[in-house]
Amino acid sequence: MDLYQMEGGYPLSGNVRIQGSKNAVLPTMAAALLQRGTVVFHHCPRIADVWCMEEILKSVGARTRWCRDSLLIDCSNIYSGEIPGAYADKMRSSVFLLGSFLPRYGQISISYPGGCTIGRRPIDLHLAVLKALGVEIYEDSCGLHARAGKLTGCRYCFPRISVGATENAVMAAVVAAGVTCLSNCAREPEIIHLCHFLRAMGARIKGEGTGEILIKGVCRLHPAEFSVPSDRIVAGTYLFAGAATRGKVALESAPVEEMEAVLGVYQKMGGQYQVKSGTLVTDSSRVRKAVPFLETAGYPGFPTDLQSPLAAVCATLEGSSRIRETIFEDRYKAAMQMRKMGADIQKCGDVLEIKGGSLHGACVSAEDLRGGAALVVAGLAAEGSTEIDELTYIDRGYEHIEKDITLLGGRISRIYRS
Ligand code: UD1
Repeated sequence: MDLYQMEGGYPLSGNVRIQGSKNAVLPTMAAALLQRGTVVFHHCPRIADVWCMEEILKSVGARTRWCRDSLLIDCSNIYSGEIPGAYADKMRSSVFLLGSFLPRYGQISISYPGGCTIGRRPIDLHLAVLKALGVEIYEDSCGLHARAGKLTGCRYCFPRISVGATENAVMAAVVAAGVTCLSNCAREPEIIHLCHFLRAMGARIKGEGTGEILIKGVCRLHPAEFSVPSDRIVAGTYLFAGAATRGKVALESAPVEEMEAVLGVYQKMGGQYQVKSGTLVTDSSRVRKAVPFLETAGYPGFPTDLQSPLAAVCATLEGSSRIRETIFEDRYKAAMQMRKMGADIQKCGDVLEIKGGSLHGACVSAEDLRGGAALVVAGLAAEGSTEIDELTYIDRGYEHIEKDITLLGGRISRIYRS
């Protein structure tokens, strides 16, 4: 297993370009199956989750090809509805095949989706809304088996908010007969991006980005191209890497308009920023102040995916910070690893209590994607050497974090071990 060797204590400085968004591209890749031609994704991130989704699409007959940073997916010859467990149970987003494959091809068998172990992560909301649209689903020890004739539009109010279930429902509804009205929907920007792509393919959708989405089903969709937007979570991770090292980083094409809550917290810590010609220029030389209390929340609130990177910064601030995780009940593993680096972090119920101070290098393990990135942030701020193993988690979502950090003057190298 590969590992990172880092030498902390150097303020980051310089420019990096932000990669395409993982959470935007995964549902849109699945949505390619709703049409029968070739779709093109520009600015597509080369990350393990994209490769895993590519394998899933290939397993049902799609052909894929990379042309520099563009991914082409040809769906003209789809022939199978069996998703091999080897891919499906690696990644939560395999569940999107229910909403994208079924409406066109009528039946699918898929093992239970995997993903990071940050909580129980049930899929009951996905199944409930698909059932409301007319999908028949039964479950056994091998996973899920679903069948659908012609789907029919419906009114459905999500009992709890879910990003993925909203996306799955929208994908299925765009080709269902009649009108679908979804309420209590998630409002994440990635839902807006998915709807833009679906609309480019001919779908009729209104209201994305609000709690109520209205969809008028169409008979068929056509091929389209999609430019994958920049990843707001990667941009936030690098922002916090700059903050933890009191550096000055410029993030080219950061999606600033999607980062309001994150930038608000950054400013309260003492961070300063400007936006110049599409680049987020940050100055963390005055970052000091603790974060008295913050809760993660659905968009436009502070994203749960940046809770661990923020905790890493808080471990370097003056005074006590408290962060309450409200989305995933087991997203505290990185904080516990940071204790090995001298972080004074206690978990009290669902709240992390962090007394700021200094960090020192240690050997730590990434145990989930964003938690792994948080350990990189902590390693950059720590005095001395840090080793991080289990990099496969980080590879799922970061295209080349070590290259980016090196470009910014951080000391990090990847040790390749087969
Ligand atoms: C997506 C993001 C993930 C982010 C999360 C919350 C992708 C590929 N992943 O994950 O990075 O952390 O949104 O912003 O876009 N839940 C249920 N039943 C369900 C579905 C969800 O109880 O059927 C619960 C989950 O366990 C969790 C909460 O709802 O506690 C929110 O999950 P959800 O919004 O669905 O997250 P994902 O779509 O999996």
